[in-house]
Amino acid sequence: MTEPRILLATPHAGYEQRLRRAFAQHLDGQLRRWDMAGIAADPAALLHQLGDISPAVVAIGPDVAVPAALELARQLDLERPEISVVLITAPSPELWEQAVGSGVRDVLAPDAVDAEVQSVFDRALEVAARRRQHLLGDTEEHAPRGRIITVLSPKGGSGKTTVAANLALALALAEPNRAAIVDLDLQFGDVAAALRLAPAHNLINAAHGSNGGDRMLLKSYLTAHVSNLWALCGSDSPADGEAITCDEARAVVESLAEEFAYVVVDTSGGLSEHTLSVIEASTDLVLVAAMDVPSVRSLRKELDALDQLGLIHARRHLLINRADSKVGLDLRDVEATVGQVVDVALPSTRLIPLSLNQGSPVVESEPRSPVARQLTALAQRFLEQPAELQPARRRSRRAR
Ligand SMILES: Nc1ncnc2c1ncn2[C@@H]1O[C@H](COP(=O)(O)OP(=O)(O)O)[C@@H](O)[C@H]1O
Ligand SMILES: [Mg+2]
Repeated sequence: MTEPRILLATPHAGYEQRLRRAFAQHLDGQLRRWDMAGIAADPAALLHQLGDISPAVVAIGPDVAVPAALELARQLDLERPEISVVLITAPSPELWEQAVGSGVRDVLAPDAVDAEVQSVFDRALEVAARRRQHLLGDTEEHAPRGRIITVLSPKGGSGKTTVAANLALALALAEPNRAAIVDLDLQFGDVAAALRLAPAHNLINAAHGSNGGDRMLLKSYLTAHVSNLWALCGSDSPADGEAITCDEARAVVESLAEEFAYVVVDTSGGLSEHTLSVIEASTDLVLVAAMDVPSVRSLRKELDALDQLGLIHARRHLLINRADSKVGLDLRDVEATVGQVVDVALPSTRLIPLSLNQGSPVVESEPRSPVARQLTALAQRFLEQPAELQPARRRSRRAR
């Protein structure tokens, strides 16, 4: 589970490292930074960015002007009273008075020692758990909607299609006819090849033909795989890459999520406008990086970009491909750079290119192999989770 329990609202990356050190193993993987740089003027819009993630604690500061921090705390208190707010700034009697008036739960000095940091956050988490029980009780209800799981990587060739095809197939094997895969690599999509499908229709036909709205019609554009997986393949002409707008792509994916419990989206490398648009609607991101310094650094930058765009609502699952490569880097180094626990590590194996050439992903053709077991474990992460997250919209970017 990588939904953050603690959100740190600050432009100060160094302080995030400081908190992680203070938490040590204790809160591993549960902290996420909410980069407020440049957008601190508008707390209401900031709240909107939270979408439906529900951290237990929001810590504000340091390096956030106190009036802006208090305003954000007030807004949180009004709109999201189940969240405990911790203000990170130098305490003083006057500040305390203002903080209490704004619904702040605790004030922590930026230079507090580890033990104090821990006890402030422990208390804030405990209070949040109680509030949640009282406020939300069992009354939470969500419209049934499938998970949208988008596979991302800053680079091409890192294994996105391999992961997307295997993940979708593993989900379909576990829950027949409940999983779909969409090829959003608009220019060089190869999902059809990876699954040995000969699609009669593609994403572009589906977007235009069904106007994104008619779900039954949309289904008629899908191609069936023998394992009860449904695929919306890409066009086989790179020239068609721009033939569909971001809104159309997103609408198709969202409609599919009304029909399928799991919609896996394969993307091209990097953050294209189309990819960003689908990320907005996603409940989960599978982040794929290879085991080398440039890949891991690029992934960190990609995550920073998502944070800056306010795209923080989706659960993030980190997958390292070819994780056994002997390159003087280990998973701990990767975790330190990316700032997140590695959820799945895939070994390098010739079974992957072999299976790709045969159009039969390893979870099906070599289910007992170590690599297939890891990919099945990835699928398991979604099978066990109820589809409870709803998407948030990005602020200040207009989808085309
Ligand atoms: N774990 C792995 N071991 C060996 N080869 C791999 C592995 N993962 C991917 N590959 C190979 O790397 C190439 C790129 O993989 P692909 O999934 O198409 O990447 P992307 O979609 O990110 O461009 C393919 O030839 C694939 O067979
Ligand atoms: Mg690909």
